[in-house]
Order: sequence, then structure tokens, then C-alpha cells
Amino acid sequence: MDLFEYQARDMFEAHGVPVLAGVVADTADGVRAAAETVGAGSGGVVVVKAQVKAGGRGKAGGVKVATSPEAAAEAAEAILGMDIKGHTVHRVMVAAGAKIAEEYYFSVLLDRANRSYLAMCSKEGGMEIEQLAVERPDALARVPVDPNVGIDAAKAAEIVAAAGFDAETGAAIAPVLERLWDVYREEDATLVEVNPLVKTEDGSIVALDGKVTLDENAGFRHPDHASLEDTAAADPLEAAAKEKHLNYVKLDGDVGIIGNGAGLVMSTLDVVAYAGETVAAEQGLATPPRPANFLDIGGGASAEVMANGMHIILSDEQVKSVFVNVFGGITSCDEVANGIVGALDRLGADATKPLVVRLDGNNVEEGRRILAERNHPLVSIEETMDGAARKAAELAAAAK
Ligand SMILES: Nc1ncnc2c1ncn2[C@@H]1O[C@H](COP(=O)(O)OP(=O)(O)OP(=O)(O)O)[C@@H](O)[C@H]1O
Ligand SMILES: [Mg+2]
Repeated sequence: MDLFEYQARDMFEAHGVPVLAGVVADTADGVRAAAETVGAGSGGVVVVKAQVKAGGRGKAGGVKVATSPEAAAEAAEAILGMDIKGHTVHRVMVAAGAKIAEEYYFSVLLDRANRSYLAMCSKEGGMEIEQLAVERPDALARVPVDPNVGIDAAKAAEIVAAAGFDAETGAAIAPVLERLWDVYREEDATLVEVNPLVKTEDGSIVALDGKVTLDENAGFRHPDHASLEDTAAADPLEAAAKEKHLNYVKLDGDVGIIGNGAGLVMSTLDVVAYAGETVAAEQGLATPPRPANFLDIGGGASAEVMANGMHIILSDEQVKSVFVNVFGGITSCDEVANGIVGALDRLGADATKPLVVRLDGNNVEEGRRILAERNHPLVSIEETMDGAARKAAELAAAAK
């Protein structure tokens, strides 16, 4: 989960990282009021910053300096509602204006390839770090961080030395890096990035911008993280699936997909996409049937999980047909069949979309028997994955 800048700012503050005053607002009037209080500590100068989960806000015109509450409200009028890389700005942060002497870069992130953490630091912050990394890789220090030790005083000193800071500036920055490590470790983040980390005219070090990505797999350790979620932006079906602990991702097509095991579901998406292209070519369709979602009901999925999954997929208006592809390993096919029958019975007249089922593996005979016995008019059973994908694609094409 990525955080908004204002959430990162608050998290930084809670861990002792130096930040400036910042208040979030979603109307011009709210910004005017916020600028009165926030600006009081910075000679009336504030910066109005678009809160979107996209980079390059400054370049897009989403970061504006204002020297009075009235000017801040005007800036907010311009920024609110703006589109930045496909994200609409619904909120801005009113931050105290800093007197910047120099801009630096710092980040710590999960380095999967090396099974470690990596700290990156540069004397040249503010600009796009990807560009710096390509054009002048020497200007970006990369220092591995041992997960068992983290960024202690010694590691912080190593990082600032590698970045080429003079002794005095390095000594001022090092303790801030230790606090940023606290954020990374204690909040279970996979990325903490500060761009720019600045030195102000009076020599203090401040994190002026913050990007934090939290590891959702560690969410159970952080009940407070749930409130950081941007529920307004979440797809309602994805939110409903999350509540049921389902591994669901909404896609743009019309063939609903249910499978067990991420690998099987991924290949099901491919097979359905391929079958869709074939059907479209044969029938001269402009838009081929395509997968409508990813849904992995997991190993050992019970009838209830199956029913929950079907419920989510059948409530997707874009879905025209559903392909249930289950290979019984830990999951036994009779459980899955019971889940399908149970879900259809529960939905009753609301179940209006054809279902193509391919079962194989553990207890397949019993699974097929249960489906055959129920003989539901919407359900067809296919023996092979390719055959089932084709059938599901045809049914979706017919319903277009
Ligand atoms: N509180 C502030 N006071 C003074 N200047 C600021 C302040 N916040 C940002 N700036 C200036 O604006 C520039 C851009 O701000 P910021 O880094 O927050 O946004 P961005 O880099 O454009 O967005 P993103 O990080 O999403 O790409 C900074 O490099 C800094 O020069
Ligand atoms: Mg930035």
C-alpha cells in the first residue's frame, strides 16, 4: 500500500524525522484557514501540494508556493480537481514554506534480487532520481543494509560518506537516516523515500517530501494501518473481495475467472485471452472477449470460499460468462462442486450468467457427479482447459 505524502509526513513525525508543519484540506476555504496557522511559523509562506499517488507533481503544476492565505486559496482552486498522470486531485497539503539551501535524496527499500535492503543517497535531490541513476550513476550512492542490523550510527555514517557529503553536513544528515530507518523497520515498509531531503538556510535537515510503501502482508501487526487505506479510490468489488479475504483483481474484460492457485489462474487468463482472440477473428468481432478478473480461491478452498468468489464475480456487471478452472490437489473437486451448487442456489433468480466448469484432480468423479446431478441450466462441464476457455469466450461473445 502506497501512502499519500501527508500520511508519510505524519508517520515521519511520529518517528522523530524532522518535517515541517503540514495540514491537509480539500476545499479552497479549508486551505485558506490552514495557511493562516501553518504560515504563522514560516513568515506567511506556504506551499500548496497536490496529494496524489503519482510522481512529478511539481512538474505538473501540482506544487505551488503562496505568500498569503488568499494566494494559497487561489493556488488550491487551481490544483484541486487537476489531473496528474490519471489521478484526480481531491486533497492538497498546505505545508510551511522552507528556505531551501540544498536538496538531497535518500531512500531505503527492499532489494529482492539481493535478498537484502538497499539504501540510496545523493547530494543531488529534487530532480527525478531515475534520470540521475541513468545519466550519472556515480552521483547516487548505493549501500546495502543488513536487515539484522539496519541503519545504525555506523551505517548512517557509511551512507553519507558514500554519497560524498562533507563532514559537517554528513553529521547533520546521519541521525535523520537512523530515524527514517525506524520508520522503515517499525512500520514494516518496503520503501521509504525522501526527495528532497533538504538543508535549510539555517543549516537544519528536513524531509520536505515523503513516499512510503507499506508491506500489506505485515498488516496484521499494524491495526492502525487500516485507516491509511484510500477506500474512496478502491474498486468496490475489490474492497468486497478483500473483506472476504479473497485474492481478487478486477480486470477490464467480460469472462469471469475463478481458479485455485495463482499459477493456474494466471495461465487461465492467458488461455482465455487467446481463445477470445480466436473467437473474435472467427466471428469478426471488433472487441474480443477478455478475462474480467483474477481470482485465486487458493489451496484447500471450501464450498463457502467458492460461493463467496462466485458472488463477487457474478456481481460484476461487465461479466458475461464465468470460467471455473479447478485442479483438485489439496482442494477436492467435490467441495468445489458443492460450492458452485450452493452459490447458485443462494443466488436463485439473480444467477443469470452461464458458467463453464472444468474440474480435474482430487475427487474429480464425485465433483462432476454433484454438478451433473444438480443439472443447473446455466452450468456446462468441459473436460479440458482449452475447451472450457473457448466455450466461455463464445458465451461471452454471444452475450455482447
Ligand atoms: N515545504 C516546502 N517549502 C519550500 N519548497 C518546497 C516545499 N515542498 C516542496 N518544495 C519544492 O518543490 C519541489 C517539489 O516538491 P515535491 O518533491 O514535494 O514534489 P515532486 O517531487 O514534484 O513530487 P513527487 O515527489 O511526487 O515527484 C521540491 O523539490 C522543493 O524544491
Ligand atoms: Mg519529490
